[in-house]
This record gives sequence, structure tokens and C-alpha cells, in this order.
Amino acid sequence: MQADLLDFTGDPGLGAPSDAAVRYRPDHWLLIDGERIAGVLPPEQPPGADWPRHDHRGRLLMPGFIDTHVHSAQLDVIASYGTELLDWLERYTFPAEARHAEPAHAAQAAEAFVSALLANGTTAAVVFPTVHRASADALFGAAHAHGMRLVTGKVMMDRHAPDDLRDDVTQSERDCEALIRRWHGQGRLAYAVTPRFAATSTPEQLAMAGALLKRHDGLYLQTHVAENQAEVAWIARLFPDSRSYLDVYDQHGLLGERSVLAHGIWLDDTDRRRLADTGAQIAHSPSSNLFLGSGLMDWRALHEAGVAVTIASDVGGGTQLSIPRTLADAYKVQALRGEKLSAFKALHAATLGAAQALRLDGEIGRLEPGCMADLCVWDWAHGPVAARRDALARDLHERLFAWMMLADDRALVTTLVAGRTQYKRRNDDSGAMETQDERTQPRAAP
Ligand code: GUN
Ligand code: ZN
Repeated sequence: MQADLLDFTGDPGLGAPSDAAVRYRPDHWLLIDGERIAGVLPPEQPPGADWPRHDHRGRLLMPGFIDTHVHSAQLDVIASYGTELLDWLERYTFPAEARHAEPAHAAQAAEAFVSALLANGTTAAVVFPTVHRASADALFGAAHAHGMRLVTGKVMMDRHAPDDLRDDVTQSERDCEALIRRWHGQGRLAYAVTPRFAATSTPEQLAMAGALLKRHDGLYLQTHVAENQAEVAWIARLFPDSRSYLDVYDQHGLLGERSVLAHGIWLDDTDRRRLADTGAQIAHSPSSNLFLGSGLMDWRALHEAGVAVTIASDVGGGTQLSIPRTLADAYKVQALRGEKLSAFKALHAATLGAAQALRLDGEIGRLEPGCMADLCVWDWAHGPVAARRDALARDLHERLFAWMMLADDRALVTTLVAGRTQYKRRNDDSGAMETQDERTQPRAAP
């Protein structure tokens, strides 16, 4: 494919835009062989006639985006009015999640969710389904069918949740073990031990989660931490012997280099040092934090402590799956803190930064030979206002920044996963790798 290729070779840092770690290769050829990127050639050196050619000149091609925290069962509660976190869970979210006890509903919802990610240029994600084993099965199955890199696991909740959303330690462990056996390491799937948050798991369940992480290699851990002040106060009452909210997880062996903690707004310096020491990452969810009025995450303090910050839509607390829309919110959250988030830093966090934090940078997040061909191709501008702004941009950062602030799914031309077209904008006949033929048919589940 020929396009304007953009990816990163390192962390661009916060503050004034620096292009030291930015790799911009306009009009270059990206060669794809089967599932993987085979090479990159300059415009004057087109590949041989035996390479299929797809003309995306004048378009922006990036590694597929990585959404490090999102709830597949919460598409149906996006844009629910008038609450903060704890009320929002009770009033809207738990009832929607309860419907996923029904396997047919879970399967239909999982496919709709995965398709929606792909239609936003997101090719990899770390996802909460629901407490029901069938919802995790359905999500793994849907991701596998599309060849996606997906990390998920059944939600664990053995207290402070409605009856139809509670498990118990024994049943939860049995379900986790069965799901790990079936899905962990199958194709591009990995299992995440998923205690929802400290309020909805007993200390016994958190200890069991820690034991699972020790028992199996390569498992992830996903949960929420320090999102909302009422929540933080509740956790302090529930765990009076823990130094902080984060310390609850630390005491149960849940912090490690594959731990993905959503939010991390109300942390202190000791927490941040502990995150850095253990290699755990914060999945920053700016759209959700604004929508639920949770607070403004201190990216600079995390950055200076050496903690990886990645980008998450956190739908349905977040109001869209779109990573460019989420990055625009991230910019505004940092603006309210007096901090500047460059487009370079923001896009790095959604690609290479996330891949590194997930220990997957040999596979995703870069336009590098040997990496999987997980790609998204975008119009530089969609619609007359964006086109006018794009035409006036004087350098790469200005252009990319305008793109990040203005783009949404309408600007997405096509999404490839492992070299196959998994999304193609309708009424756009240029440049698809292939038509929607049998190559996009579901693969059999293991
Ligand atoms: N904390 C515990 N559960 C949730 C959830 O579903 N969404 C968000 N944003 N925070 C949570
Ligand atoms: Zn969440």
C-alpha cells in the first residue's frame, strides 16, 4: 500500500512537540506478506509487479490503535444521563450487564462490539466483558474470528453487586481456569484476571486472583483504581489496613508488568513509585473521566515517575470508541491541568506506547518488518472544515494535531488485521486489500 506512513520509534515526551521519536514516511510503500509487514520502500522504489498495489496516496496510515480499557457489555449504556460512578454502576451498568447471562445476547453483543472497534481503527484491546463465563467466551470467539489481538477475562465480583451479577470464590476460580485452558495463548488471545474493582471482590477473591496470576504464565491483570473520590473513600473503609487503594491490589499480588489499571486519578507519589517499580500501566480514560465527573489525571506526575500511560475509551463511561475522539479529550483534560499533550505523545500512547506497556511491541504498534499488519488508513481531513484546516497546517505536528482534534470514524478508510481487510468504508472503492470475501469469514473457535 502506498500512503503517508506514521509511527514512533520511542516516547516523544510531554510538553512541546518534539519529533525525535517520530517516524514519518510520506508516500512510502508498505509491503504486506500474509499476516505481517514485510518491508517499507521509498516512493521512488515501487515494489515489483508481483506485489498487489493499493493506492492510498494522500492518506495517513498508522498502526492499528490499541484501546487498553473498554467494556464490551456497555455499548448499551453509552450516554446515560446524570450520575457519577457509583450511582452510574447501579442505575445503568449493572442492569445492562445482567442481560449478558443469556449466551445468545452475549454472542450478538460481542460481535457488535468487535465490529465497532474495527470500524474505529482499533485493532487490539484490553476488554471487560461481564461476570458471566459465556460473555468472555463470546468475546474471545468474536475476536478470534477477526484475527484480533485481544486480552480479556470474565469479571470477578463476589460482593456489593446484584445477585444476578455475583460469583463466589470457588465458582469464579473454576470459570477462570476453564477459560484460561480454552483461550489463553490461542492465536492472538490472552487471558486477563479481572476483579472489577476492590469494592466488588472480597479479600479472599483478590487472593485467589493473585494465585491465578502466579499459577499461569503470561496472564494479564485488569481492574479499576482511584477513579472517583467517593469510591476511594469507600475502599478506605473496606480495607482499613491498606495504605491506599492501589495498595489493596499490591497486597494481593496483583501488580506486575502485565497489569492494566484503569483511571489512576487519585494516586499519590508512593502509589506512582509502586506502579513504576512493578511495571504496571495506567489506562487513561479521559472521555469517561469527563463524562462521569471523576477528575483530571496527572499525566506529568505519572510520566516523571516512569509509569506507562496508555489510552482507553472506557466505554460506556466513555462516550465513544473512537481513539482520535478520546485523544482530543485527553488533550483537553491536560489543558485543564495546565499541561500540553502533543499529538505525537498522544498517538504514541495509543500505538507503540501501549504495545510496549502490554509487552507486545514485537507484534503490534509499529510499522516494522516482522510486526503483524494491523493497520488503519485515514483521510487527513473529512469534510470541508477539516479540509480547510488541514490545508493551512504548516508542519507535521500542526497537521497531525488538527487531525487528532477533528477526526472520527468518518475519516477512517480501512482497517486491516493481520493483513486482512476487516473494515472498509462504504462507497469507497479505492485501495482495499480485498473484497469482503471468504478471507473475512469467521475462523473456527479452538
Ligand atoms: N469501576 C468499577 N466498575 C466500573 C465500570 O464499569 N466503569 C468504570 N468507569 N469504572 C468502574
Ligand atoms: Zn472501566
